[in-house]
Amino acid sequence: MKAHTQQSLQGQAQADGGSGVETATVIGAGTMGSQIAAVAALAGFHTYLVDIAEEPLAQAVDQLRSRFDRDVEKGRRTREDVEAAWERLITTTDRDAAAAASDIVVEAAVEDLDVKRRIFAELDSVCSPDTILATNSSNIVPSRLAEVVEHGGRMCNLHFFNPALVMECVELVPHHGTSEETRRRAGAFAEELGKTLVTLKQEIPGFVANRLLNAIRREALSLYDQGVADFPDIDAAARTALRHPMGPFELMDLVGIDVVYLIRQAEHAQTGDPEDLPDPAIAELYEAGRLGRKTGRGWYSYA
Ligand SMILES: NC(=O)c1ccc[n+]([C@@H]2O[C@H](COP(=O)([O-])OP(=O)(O)OC[C@H]3O[C@@H](n4cnc5c(N)ncnc54)[C@H](O)[C@@H]3O)[C@@H](O)[C@H]2O)c1
Repeated sequence: MKAHTQQSLQGQAQADGGSGVETATVIGAGTMGSQIAAVAALAGFHTYLVDIAEEPLAQAVDQLRSRFDRDVEKGRRTREDVEAAWERLITTTDRDAAAAASDIVVEAAVEDLDVKRRIFAELDSVCSPDTILATNSSNIVPSRLAEVVEHGGRMCNLHFFNPALVMECVELVPHHGTSEETRRRAGAFAEELGKTLVTLKQEIPGFVANRLLNAIRREALSLYDQGVADFPDIDAAARTALRHPMGPFELMDLVGIDVVYLIRQAEHAQTGDPEDLPDPAIAELYEAGRLGRKTGRGWYSYA
C-alpha cells in the first residue's frame, strides 16, 4: 500500500515539480526540531516529531503552544491554521514507525557525529529507498553521514536557521553522490514549507550563510585584536553603515559565546586548519564562563 502510494506520489511530483512529500518525520524535539516540525505541520504536511523520551516532546509541545498563542494574539496566524497544524502534528518516541511512514526524514538531533551516524544507519533499514534522508546539522557535511547509508543518493542536508518558524532561509547541501531526484525533491519540499531555498552545488563545511557570517565575524575579531577599533564601534559600523540588524559582537552574545567557540572547534576538527580554531578572545570569554546574554555577561554586560 505504502509503496503504491509513494510511486504514485512521486509520479505526481515528477509531473508538477513538487516534492511528492505527504508525510514528514523530524527527529529531535529541541530548539530546531520542534520548530521545523511546526513549520511542516503549518504547511499542510502530516508530521511526526520524534525524540528519545516523552519529556523533550512535552516540552516542545508546551513551547510551541505558547508561541502559537502569541502569534494568534498578535495576528500573525489564525486560530484555525494553528488548530489545523496541531491536527497534523504527532509526537512520538517510536522513531522507526514514524520514519517508515514518511516520505522525508529531517534529523535535528544533538550535534554529535556518532549519534547522527547511528540514527541514519538505523533509518536506512526501516525507510523506503525513496524516502529522503536529510540532516539539519550546521557543521556535519552529508557525505560523512551518507557513508553509513546503503542508498546514499537520498542523503542531503536541509539546513534551517534559528528560529525555524521565523527565518526564511533553508540551505540544501548535497554530497557528491546525492541523486538529482533527491536534490530536486528536497528543494521542492523546502519551498513547499514556504522557505527561500539556497541550493549549494557541493558540500563545504559551514555551507553558505554561516561562512558569510564567519567571514564578517573573523574580520571583526581581527580588527579588535589588532587594536584598530573597540568592539562597540565595530558593532556600530555594522549597524549604521551596513544596516545589519546588530553588530557581530552583539550577535555573538545573542547566539552564545559557547556556541561560537564549539562551532569553530568542530570546523577545526573537520578541516585541521589552525585558521579555523576559535579566536583567542573567544576562547578567553568561553573559559571565563562569559557566554553572552544567557550568563548576563559576554562581550557586553546585561542587567
Ligand atoms: N540551535 C541552532 O541555532 C541551530 C541552527 C541550525 C542547525 N542546528 C542543528 O540542528 C541540530 C539540533 O540542534 P538543536 O539546537 O535543536 O539541539 P537541541 O539540543 O536543542 O535538541 C536536540 C534534541 O535531540 C534529542 N536527541 C538526542 N539524541 C537523539 C536521538 N538519538 N534520537 C532522537 N532525538 C535525539 C534531544 O533529546 C533533544 O531534544 C544540530 O545538528 C545543530 O547543528 C542548530
